[in-house]
This record gives sequence, structure tokens and C-alpha cells, in this order.
Amino acid sequence: MRKKVVVLGSFVTDLTSRSEKLPIPGETVLGSSFQMGPGGKGSNQAVAAHRAGADVTMITKVGRDVFGREALEFYRSEGMDTTYFLMDDRHATGSALINVDSVTAQNQIVVVIGACDHITHEDLETCRAQIEGAGILLLQHEINSSAQYEAIEMAHRAGVQIILNPAPAAEIPGEIMKKLDVVTPNETEVQALTGIFVRNGEDAKRAAEVLFQKGVKQVVITMGKQGAFAADKNRSEWIPRIPVEARDTTGAGDAFNGGFVMAMSEGKDLFTSLRYGNVTGALSVTRAGSSPSMPTREDIQRLYQETYLNKEQ
Ligand code: RIB
Repeated sequence: MRKKVVVLGSFVTDLTSRSEKLPIPGETVLGSSFQMGPGGKGSNQAVAAHRAGADVTMITKVGRDVFGREALEFYRSEGMDTTYFLMDDRHATGSALINVDSVTAQNQIVVVIGACDHITHEDLETCRAQIEGAGILLLQHEINSSAQYEAIEMAHRAGVQIILNPAPAAEIPGEIMKKLDVVTPNETEVQALTGIFVRNGEDAKRAAEVLFQKGVKQVVITMGKQGAFAADKNRSEWIPRIPVEARDTTGAGDAFNGGFVMAMSEGKDLFTSLRYGNVTGALSVTRAGSSPSMPTREDIQRLYQETYLNKEQ
């Protein structure tokens, strides 16, 4: 049976420009296009998991403003539940300024999380049944840490599997770390957590060992062009990146997490789920935008078959 996935994280509006070169400090460059659309790491991951076929409830906080209204409209158009969109009367919906290099598909992002920085104890109480009733709780670092820690405690007491995508990089207190079932950092975030600069599978193994010592049960590391890695205490595996023509890498990590969590929610093992994450991430970079670039279940299944057919355990 599919486990229910609850995502507690950010919704922000992405304001994205494309240019042939990213500006250096103090520089102005001419861009070729501008796009406004739904984003935020939490929401991108929720949308990715939903499109991939998971049963997802999103908990987030938005302002009573234009961006907040567009968030609700977008979720309705995706057929996703908006019951747990908390409304903030005092703070604006978050926004992210994103510059995409149209030649390399790399990006620069400044995110202001706005209302997502103000999730209160009372807010979480209204979501308690959802959090405690989840099969998997998925979080990131784009909400206030007090709400993040409180939700982790709540979920841990209720025996919910907790997956943290520790992005953007931030410190995690030891007491919280012990309660995490899976962490899914990228190479920068894993360095912030372990002090180890991960360039290859061997470095990733050493970083995973450090995280196991801190109490985490399973580790997944996304390594951009170097592929992805997963480990539990008995086994570890590195898999290469799937070659695709990259158009925009914004939200690739979120796509990975969405595809990974979908597979975990269907009871697939860590290493099969790693492959679903890899496929979902690869497909997302072939399209522009963050949430809008998330692939469908059908696309994911097709590339999964092409890439891994006959290799799945
Ligand atoms: O991971 C990509 C996301 O990070 C963007 O959608 C932007 O909103 C920032 O939060």
C-alpha cells in the first residue's frame, strides 16, 4: 500500500530571467527572457512527487497577496489539496530571484522565504493530524527552524518516517539529526554537515559514515554531474548521471527528491528509489522552470525502463 507523503516546506514565487552569461557583482547583463511561476524547494518536491504518482499533502504558508493567490490556483490546476496552505495576514508570500545561464543551464538563486519564515506552534497544531498520520514526512530548510524541529519531534513520536533534504545548507542540531531516517544533501550541503568535500563515491562513503555516527539511518547524496549515491549501514551504491540535454537545472535537486520519495512511499528499497530520483532529476533539467519542469509518472517510467531495465533487483 502507498504511504501518504506530507511535505512541510516552502512555497515561493520564482522570478526567472535567462541570459547568455550570469552577472558578476556590480555588473548588469542583458537577458533574453523572463518567466514568473511556482517554486520553493518544498513545493517543487511536493509537485514532483505528486506528478510522479505519490499521494501528497503540502503544508506551507503564503501571504494574502497576488503570489499567494497564484499558489492556490496552481495547486488546484495540478489537482492538489490546498487545505493546509496556512494564510499569513502580516507577511508576504516568499519569492526567489533566479538567473539562468542559457549556455550552461546553471543558475544563481536568492530566495526570500517570506511567510514561510513565520510558521507558528499554533499553525502546526492545526496540521498535527496530517503530520502524525503521514507515512513519510519530507522537509527542507526553507521554513523557520523552530517549526521544522517541532514537526520533526511530532512525527518522530508518532513513528512517521522522516526524510530531510537539507537545502539550502544549514546546521542541524544533534538531537534533531538522531530523529532523521533519511537525509538527501547535495555535494555542498553534505560538506556543511560532515566537513567532507565529496568528489566521488569513496568520499561519499566517508561522508555517509559521519552521518550514520550522528544517528541518521540512510543517506542519499546528489552529486550533480558526478551522479548520485545512496547508503545504509550494510550497503552503498553510486550511480552515474543520466546524460540529457540540459536547458535549466533549477529545481533538479527537488525533482530528484520528489521522484525518490514517490518510490519510497511505494515501498521500493533505498537503491531502487535512488534510481527513480535520478530519472526524475534528469527529466526536469530538460525543461525550463522549477515546478513546471517536473515530469509525469509516464515520462519517469519510460526513462526508468530505458536506463535500468533488467538491472532492477
Ligand atoms: O531548488 C530550486 C528552488 O530554490 C527554486 O524554485 C527557488 O524557489 C528556491 O527556493
